[in-house]
Formats: sequence, C-alpha cells, structure tokens
Amino acid sequence: MPILIDGLTSLEYRGYDSAGIYIPGAGSVRAVGAVGSLKSKLPKNLKGESGIAHLRWATHGEPTVANAHPHRDCSGTIWVVHNGIIENHQELRDKLIKEGHKFLSKTDTEVLPHLVEHYFKKEKDLERAVLKTLRDIRGTYGAVFVSEQEPDKLIAVRMGAPVVLGLGDGENFIASDPSPILRHTKNVIYLQDGEMAVITPTSHAIYTFDRARVRRSPEKVEWSPEQIQKGGFKHFMLKEIMEGPEVIENTLRGRLVVDKGLAKLGGLESVSEKLRGVKRIIIVGCGTAYYAGLVGEYMLEEYAGIPVEVEVGSEFRYRKPVMDSETILLAVSQSGETADTLEAIREAKRKGILTLGIVNTVGSTIARETDAGIFNHAGPEIGVASTKAFLSQVTALALLTLFLGRQRQMSLVTGKRIAKELLDLPEKVDIILSDHQKLRSLARKYSKYDDFLYIGRKYNYPIALEGALKLKEVSYVHAEGCGAGEMKHGPLAMIDPNFPTVAIAPKDSVYEKMVSNIQEIKARKGKVLVITNREGKELRALADDLIVVPKTLEMLSPILTVVPLQLFAYYFAVEKGLNVDRPRNLAKSVTVE
Ligand code: M6R
Repeated sequence: MPILIDGLTSLEYRGYDSAGIYIPGAGSVRAVGAVGSLKSKLPKNLKGESGIAHLRWATHGEPTVANAHPHRDCSGTIWVVHNGIIENHQELRDKLIKEGHKFLSKTDTEVLPHLVEHYFKKEKDLERAVLKTLRDIRGTYGAVFVSEQEPDKLIAVRMGAPVVLGLGDGENFIASDPSPILRHTKNVIYLQDGEMAVITPTSHAIYTFDRARVRRSPEKVEWSPEQIQKGGFKHFMLKEIMEGPEVIENTLRGRLVVDKGLAKLGGLESVSEKLRGVKRIIIVGCGTAYYAGLVGEYMLEEYAGIPVEVEVGSEFRYRKPVMDSETILLAVSQSGETADTLEAIREAKRKGILTLGIVNTVGSTIARETDAGIFNHAGPEIGVASTKAFLSQVTALALLTLFLGRQRQMSLVTGKRIAKELLDLPEKVDIILSDHQKLRSLARKYSKYDDFLYIGRKYNYPIALEGALKLKEVSYVHAEGCGAGEMKHGPLAMIDPNFPTVAIAPKDSVYEKMVSNIQEIKARKGKVLVITNREGKELRALADDLIVVPKTLEMLSPILTVVPLQLFAYYFAVEKGLNVDRPRNLAKSVTVE
C-alpha cells in the first residue's frame, strides 16, 4: 500500500479530483479529493503484494466516490484503472445492462471491467478477455487490469494515453509517467499505442493487440527522485520559477558555438539538410506552450525569414490545413502527452509533413512520434502552472531560430550576438528573481482587484497572454491578455479605477507605441503596473508601479519579462490562500481531448 500511495502522491500534479486504491484480497478504498483524503480513509489492514491506484480528473461523471477509480465488475474480482475516454461507452453500457450487469458509477470507464467479465466467462483467460474487450471499445486509454484470481499479475494496455513500465529487482511497476516509478527503479519501457504489457513481480512481457511478442529494451530515466520534491520551497510553482536560470543553462548546454554564431542541435542533425529547404513552419501547442510558439513566430520570421503560423492543437486538428512538402510542423509541449498537440502531429504526418518537437519529457509520446526535435532539459515540472518550461521553450525556439537563420541569410555578426545574449540570460533572470519580495508586495497590493488587463506588443504580446493565463489559472481572477494595439477596438471599454492593467513595455521597436497605449489607460483613470527594462522619467511618471528587468535583445526580452509575471501570479494566489500547485479543475497533463 505505501508504494501505491507514494506513487499517487508523485502523480498528484496530473489530476486530482478523486483518488482510489484496490489491493487484491484486501479490498478497495476511494475518496473525493486528492491523495490526502484517500489516506485518511485507509484502514491499517489494507495490505498486499500487488495493487492498482488512480487519481481522477473528471471527464464523464462528477468527482464523487462512486465515480472514483478503480472500477470493478459485478463479481468484484476484476478491477481497472483508466486514463482516457471510452467514446462508445453509452451503447456498451446499455448492452451490458440488458445482459444483467450492474453499474455503480456514471463513468465511461466502468464498461471496461464489465466487458472483461463478460469475455472472461467464455475465455477463462484474463489476457484474452482484455484483448477481446479492446475490440469493442472506441476511444483512448491507458488502462491497467487486475483480477483477484491472479493477484500477482497486472495487465496494461495503451491507446492514446501514456503507460510506462518500471523494471525493478523482484518488483515491477506500471504508471502513466515515470515519476512514481523513479524511487524504485530508473529502468523503464514506454508502451506504444496498440500494445499490451503483462507484468508479475519477476517478469514482464509486451505484446501487440494481435498477441505478437514485442521485444524492447528498457531505457534509463535521467530525472532523479529529488527533482520531484519541493526542495525547501513552499510550492513547486515557486521552486520552478526559481529554477529559471539553471533551466536556461540546461537548455543551452553544449548547443552554442559562440565564435561561429551557430546553434548545434544534435536532435535536428538527421533532418538538417531537409530543413534548408523549408519554406513554412506551422507551430502547434496548447496553453503556455502555444504562447511560447507565438514568441517563436516573431523570432523565426524576423531572423530566419521563414513564414510561421501558430495554432492551438485543438483547432488545428479539425482544420483542413494546407501543407506542402516545404512545410514543417513544430509541436511544443512540456509533457509530450497533450492529446490535442499529439493529434495535430498525427494529422500532419498523415499528410507526409516533417514533424519536429520541442519537448521536455524524454520518452513521451510526442517526443517519440515527431521525426526530430529539441529536448528542453528543464527537468520535471510538477506545478500545474507552467513556468520554467516556458522559459526553456522560448530558449529552445531561439536556438532553432539561430540554427535555421544561419542556414539562410543570418549574418555571422547577428548569429554571434544572439548566441552571446542567450548565454547572458541566466544571470539576468537571477537578477529578477532576487527582487522577488517586491513582486510579493505588489501582488499583495493588487490582490484586492478581481479583473486585470495584460497588454504587450510584438515579442511581448504573447507575454501579455501568458501573464494573464498565469494569473487566472492560479488565482481564479479574471485576467485578459490583449495586443496593446487592439485595446481601443474593445477591451479599453472595461478600464476604470477598479480594473488595473499590467503593461509589458521594454525599450524595443514598439516602445513608443506602448507608452501611448499606457497613456490611453491613464486617461481613463486605470491603474497600470509596468514591466520594462528602461527606468526613464516617462514611465516613472505614468506607471502606478514599475518593475525593471535587465536589458537584452528584443527577441529574447520575453524570457525576462515573463518572470515577474510568473512571480506576480504566484504571490497573488498565495495571498488569496489558494492551492497554487494544483489549481481547481485543471490537470498538468491533458491527455484527453
Ligand atoms: O504539456 P504541455 O506543454 O503540452 O501542456 C500544454 C498546456 O496544457 C499547459 O501549458 C497549460 O496551459 C499550463 N497549465 C499553463 O500554465
């Protein structure tokens, strides 16, 4: 039991509106809320040599005890935990009910144990019953089955939701990502779609759904268990913001040849010649990763001269995008498991398009399914609000810009300048972080407001969007991000003394325009908190509050301007006493559509 509970705790960042555990022969306990609520309900005698446990992020059916996993068949001998969505669950449920099965929850998942029960009666073999079940279902799943009759055996299946095996010494594990496995073993095998794994404490075997044996050697996970601890910080979010300088260093490590103004990207070597002929890039991501992509659009167009479009995965996958052999798709994803981003990649691959990834999680589905890419090396990000990953994503996009730019028209001088400025970023982020107490008092001062407008232009337009997302995500207050030039086309109407604006206005090619926009807000008696890198009289006179970050190249300025906004959102949520690392309704890895 402790292994399962510790495992759930390290997965808590992925989703947490209910939790449950089942130990063959000992029973099951389920609770609404996170692992803490489950723990408080656990009887001492819930012990065993094997078991399954789950944290649920509700899709079908509210977060209630009845809907919490694991789910069971009618006899209470076959149990399952499942991530994903069974799309045809209603018709299967109706059919099973007609056959006499009794359902106890409102979830789509519950059809799984009942179907296995149905087939087990005929097959008398759990693996075969599971495989037959899979033929009946449509949708996505990463699921694990166990039967009380063979308590030492776990069966995992995967179609669209991650499953990883951990291979230990006399003990084996299955999880949806490596974090719960790391404290036991670093040897893992990632299951692929259409595969089933059968483990016992001393054996493991992988098969296709046609029961052909798959031989795959384990790989070593580099992340250490310490990286997924808070390390003295009150929250993961703060720890991860504070890791900014180190994360940028890790993303850059070994990838810059400063005197030649070049980026050396090993993960792109295999496609390097093909990239010379690329005429258009489509960047796809969701949430924060999408905003990183927007910064990339400005960089790549300005410095590599390549037309770029950026789109959220959930829209891209349902469009009929026009792509030709000179187009590539670049997916940005921290987890490497975001379902919408993944489907966008698959859609592009179906059309024969080269796909690249900027991915943090080695071994993740997006990392494996893209043709080539850049790993972030940002280390595990546990806080649901993405912070350090964003810094790393924008850094990786700058490296890509240098790489593609130098393949094209970018001069040696410009290349050297970008490389040098990139190397200076960690120290500059450090300077911003050392001023974190100022952000804390500003967050306190502004925490009485319920609405915020964030504005920026050009490279810092995406930062306005990201700053607003950070605030609403962890503080549940209304925050709107807007291109400063768009303000007078609508959002300006909201401004009054109770609707403050956060303006990102570094001294760049659009600085004067930003100053005019700030004046427009002041003329409407709006309060303005300005993030800049120029402490001139002009802004001092206009701003109600001013945060000054170090100077850098315009294209790299988002990496610095975003940091105060991350801290502001963090302290704002702390001020409100909210669960910063696990905001309500959200999950870290969005593996469902
Ligand atoms: O793992 P990914 O980078 O693909 O995740 C994408 C978004 O779900 C993620 O960035 C989300 O918007 C964050 N919670 C924002 O802080």
